Amino acid sequence: MSLKGKSIIITGGTSGIGEGCTRHFAELGAKVVTSSIQQEQGVALQDDLRAAGGDVTFVYCDMTDEEQIAGLVQRAVELHGRIDGVCSNAGAWIEGTVEEFDDRTWDLVMGVNVRGNFLLAKHLVPVFREQGEGVLAITTSTAAYVGFPAHALYCASKAALVALIRCLTKDHAGYMRTVGICPGTIDTPMLAASAEGFDQPIDELYAEVAAKIPVKRLGQPEDVAKAAAFLLSDDAGFIAGSSIFLEGGTLALPPW
Ligand SMILES: NC(=O)c1ccc[n+]([C@@H]2O[C@H](COP(=O)([O-])OP(=O)(O)OC[C@H]3O[C@@H](n4cnc5c(N)ncnc54)[C@H](O)[C@@H]3O)[C@@H](O)[C@H]2O)c1
Repeated sequence: MSLKGKSIIITGGTSGIGEGCTRHFAELGAKVVTSSIQQEQGVALQDDLRAAGGDVTFVYCDMTDEEQIAGLVQRAVELHGRIDGVCSNAGAWIEGTVEEFDDRTWDLVMGVNVRGNFLLAKHLVPVFREQGEGVLAITTSTAAYVGFPAHALYCASKAALVALIRCLTKDHAGYMRTVGICPGTIDTPMLAASAEGFDQPIDELYAEVAAKIPVKRLGQPEDVAKAAAFLLSDDAGFIAGSSIFLEGGTLALPPW
């Protein structure tokens, strides 16, 4: 399994899971274009990894803006001549029930999570078709399958991705391999934001959650990064259209 010398794009690549992917892929010797809407963190991460010998370029890209998505794809091709794989990881999370949401919230969560992936695929397809190959790995979530309380919009957006992954697999068979990654509880800034609503110190809360997970710990960004590296590599060449769980066994638990 190797990403050495491969041209890889990562979206949402400057925080949490995406940052873990950027660091891991750079260590594996990939030529990485990492992107997000976190300009400062992006440049700092790029400089940090370049100082360690990594081939990493940060490109600002808001996944709600089609022109910027097209620009991201074009920039990676300009820099590295081709694109071997894409780790589409950018995500928006907002908690609430259907009564609490307005159109702005819908547009943001669906805009980043669903429309963003839809448009990214649209701009990748011509590149992959021309090359005759390419892999798109989309970060969805166990939330696609579990009805988490007050998560209607987020869960619906992640479930939409599971369907999108199947359709892309069928429509672009032969030159684009699309796979999904469904993380469970991963220790990232997004998880910390979701813990804010609890009146319990975060360490205590995390310890309680970890005790319930069959492997007895929270996931770390590196857990997802290692799985993503495998799914993007040629060793995963027979995996297509599926969304793979990385949740420490949580979904094996009985519902009581
Ligand atoms: N942390 C978890 O427990 C968990 C579980 C399942 C799935 N996920 C998914 O994993 C992915 C990464 O989440 P994380 O936990 O690392 O969160 P995070 O908040 O640490 O990172 C999210 C990243 O997405 C980027 N982003 C947000 N809006 C964007 C936009 N409009 N355009 C471009 N980039 C944008 C942010 O800049 C950031 O880099 C998300 O898709 C999330 O839904 C996370």
